[in-house]
Amino acid sequence: MEPILLRARGETNSRSISTYLRLGGYGALKKAFIMDPAAIREEVKNSGLRGRGGAGFPAGVKWGFVPQDSPKPKYLICNADESEPGTFKDREIIHVDPHMLIEGIIIASYAISANTAYIYIRGEFVEEARILEQAIAEAYKKKYLGKNILTTGYDLDLYVHRGAGAYICGEETALIESIEGKRGLPRLKPPFPAVVGVFGCPTVVNNVETLACVPHIIERGAAWFASIGRPRNTGPKLFCVSGHVNRPGVYELPLGVTFREIIEEHCGGMRDGKALKAFIPGGSSAPVLPADKVDTAADFDAVAEAGSMLGSGGLIVMDETVDMVWALENLLTFYAHESCGQCTPCREGSDWALDVVRRIRRGHGRPEDIETLQRIARYASQGMTICPLGDAFCGPITSFLNHFGHEFEAYIEAATPAPRKKLPILPVRSGRGTFGL
Ligand SMILES: Cc1cc2nc3c(=O)[nH]c(=O)nc-3n(C[C@H](O)[C@H](O)[C@H](O)COP(=O)(O)O)c2cc1C
Repeated sequence: MEPILLRARGETNSRSISTYLRLGGYGALKKAFIMDPAAIREEVKNSGLRGRGGAGFPAGVKWGFVPQDSPKPKYLICNADESEPGTFKDREIIHVDPHMLIEGIIIASYAISANTAYIYIRGEFVEEARILEQAIAEAYKKKYLGKNILTTGYDLDLYVHRGAGAYICGEETALIESIEGKRGLPRLKPPFPAVVGVFGCPTVVNNVETLACVPHIIERGAAWFASIGRPRNTGPKLFCVSGHVNRPGVYELPLGVTFREIIEEHCGGMRDGKALKAFIPGGSSAPVLPADKVDTAADFDAVAEAGSMLGSGGLIVMDETVDMVWALENLLTFYAHESCGQCTPCREGSDWALDVVRRIRRGHGRPEDIETLQRIARYASQGMTICPLGDAFCGPITSFLNHFGHEFEAYIEAATPAPRKKLPILPVRSGRGTFGL
């Protein structure tokens, strides 16, 4: 497949507006401005573009939920929080081709009648925020942003909003709270942001990669986009591969390529000739899959059928040397730290699960520990919490136990009972003198 989202990779000065214009950039915007906003929404719907932020919701359908008859202002938010372990593709777009993203944001904003847009970016991405600020300044200068863009009468202001470095702020409603200046705590849905979003107004939240696809769809048409990939899973996808492969990195491939092809052909195979043991297909919250699922097609539907999710496309590859108890402990350390604390099952469950797995790994596991982990996962997932962070740490627990439960059992069988804690002896003063309890 010809590079589409990463076509500017290798170009000198690929981030500058002059390079982008030389490659035909902002041509889609001119085309979009002679279309009706409803026709743009229809084109994106027909392309089959599904959100690249995790859930795979069709972008054109989401845009259609914005009530166009509402007198309230509409907003577009580009989600560049990208805090999920194993996910580093949006950063690549920002580094290589920020104007492609900006053009996508302008077209999407025009399509939903928004006059204000935000790029919400994780606080630690200092360099990326600087790149975006510079590209936005260039776009204002060339009249692609601001008042009366390209003399069409359409106005759009675009702001970079830096978060403070919390994973939960990637969740769209926590992100909205954060933009409003509040602590990033997720909201209950419904109402969905498309109807009640930032400042109580209709808001579309889309991932960086989703929006970066938009100029290409407008320029080359929905049918062209839909011809890439597989039915219901169309278009190019950025796969960010980490772990035990020879060439980790970001690869642009059609949706539906197999994980085997990604690992063996594009990433140069397993490091040191070791065997594949397991892989996490869509960022750390996606359930782990064993090596025998490596021929699964990397698309939303096939991965769901295999028992996991494509999520963000963050592929974490583990070889035969990986201790799966340690790997789960590693993941849970992240989730226990990042739970926002709003819902009890997630706040308590993530810490509790981490304690149990850590105890098992340290050689003090108890026979009932596996049942305890399963129980925690049951009570903190599938709608028991306000946002899906509960599912994000429970999916790993159940999948690690389903596929690699024997490793947990082996640890527990070999365990020595944890040393009993001695109660401290407190000096107590009484009328008859001091004695210990
Ligand atoms: C805990 C959590 C973290 C998330 N982090 C991100 C993120 O960093 N980037 C992102 O695009 N979506 C993230 N999402 C998904 C967003 O809530 C939302 O579905 C997405 O931005 C919508 O964009 P899309 O439709 O283009 O995929 C996260 C969801 C959850 C539950």
